[in-house]
Amino acid sequence: SRIADAADVADLRLLARRRAPRMVFDYVDGAAEGELSMARAREAFARVEFSPRVLRDVGDAPTAVEVLGRRIAMPVVLGPTGFTRMMHRDGERAVARAAERAGVPYTLSTMGTTPAADVAAAAPGGWNWFQLYAVRDRARNLDTLAQARVAGMDVLVVTVDVPVAGARLRDVRHGLTIPPALRWRSVLQAVWRPAWWFDFLTSEPLRFATVDDAPPDLAGLTNKMFDPSVTVRDLEWIRSAWNGRLVVKGVQRVDDAEELAAVGVDGIVVSNHGGRQLDRAVTPLELLPRVVEAVGERTEVFLDGGVRSGADVAAAVALGARACFVGRAYLYGLMAGGEPGVRRVLELLRAELVRTLQLLGVGDVGGLGPDVVRLR
Ligand code: FNR
Repeated sequence: SRIADAADVADLRLLARRRAPRMVFDYVDGAAEGELSMARAREAFARVEFSPRVLRDVGDAPTAVEVLGRRIAMPVVLGPTGFTRMMHRDGERAVARAAERAGVPYTLSTMGTTPAADVAAAAPGGWNWFQLYAVRDRARNLDTLAQARVAGMDVLVVTVDVPVAGARLRDVRHGLTIPPALRWRSVLQAVWRPAWWFDFLTSEPLRFATVDDAPPDLAGLTNKMFDPSVTVRDLEWIRSAWNGRLVVKGVQRVDDAEELAAVGVDGIVVSNHGGRQLDRAVTPLELLPRVVEAVGERTEVFLDGGVRSGADVAAAVALGARACFVGRAYLYGLMAGGEPGVRRVLELLRAELVRTLQLLGVGDVGGLGPDVVRLR
């Protein structure tokens, strides 16, 4: 099939672009404002320079690592993404199942379109994490956390880079509503994307967290629902309401990382939300080594943003990341072909990581370090 024949994530992106309506593809593919942060994240990976060792035994190259006290098959975490059933009818379930099969964690978003219990039931042997956006209604936050915990999720990722919605101009230009509406401006498009529209219109309607009188656009919903007054103090009640590991996602400064390490979080994700929030925010791969140097002994540091291949994963780990979160990479697979598409992405990431380790002369992913990589 075309999914199985995809030679890399870029091939799956092209398949996704052919299958999904433009406004859905652009919701995934796009970023904020001039999309400079997103471009720079990729550009930083393009500046990675490896220094391979030769004449090392690289007969096999194990990729398993320990993350937050558990072994996972490779240093990859499927990050949280909202409205995942918009990309494919099987949505979060398909992603969780592919993650389960590949032996890596999956993170369900507060803005997901499948209840936590259903994700857990779809992938009972998987390691499912939950991501929280703090909303204005405090009781509701507690309820959301309780549902995730009851579903067996034991790692909480609190995303802190969305005090307000970023300006995603592709969404604005398309007039994207959630759920997408078949209106006169999308009818012509629909003729060219019949399979997506057929699936979308015949599957269960999208259900997602919302508030009364929410505007139909995502930015409007976000600004009405999310709490912009959250501070580091709020991590205290979040922690007291959460019996599990706590990770903070969206850290973009060394001093913030230090403050979080001081309050004792279990992990920090160096991330600018894939460039979807503050455009021109610092490039995660460039900031990573400084954060690792400052807090890496006290807390686990993850890299998020721009990861499209196993070689990217190897580079980030060599620069100090415990593991990488990925977003768009798996969504391209999902949009291209549901669960088999996500599986293909994970297969590619793993094969690319193994090959990179072997070509680098590093016999085990644990042997990656700053001696084999630099940013030009
Ligand atoms: C996201 N991201 C995100 N993050 C989060 O904490 N909660 C969420 O609900 C979402 N939703 C979401 C939707 C879509 C379509 C995308 C592409 C991204 C951000 C995501 O977790 C991650 O930070 C970025 O995707 C990382 O960049 P890459 O891997 O996409 O380059």
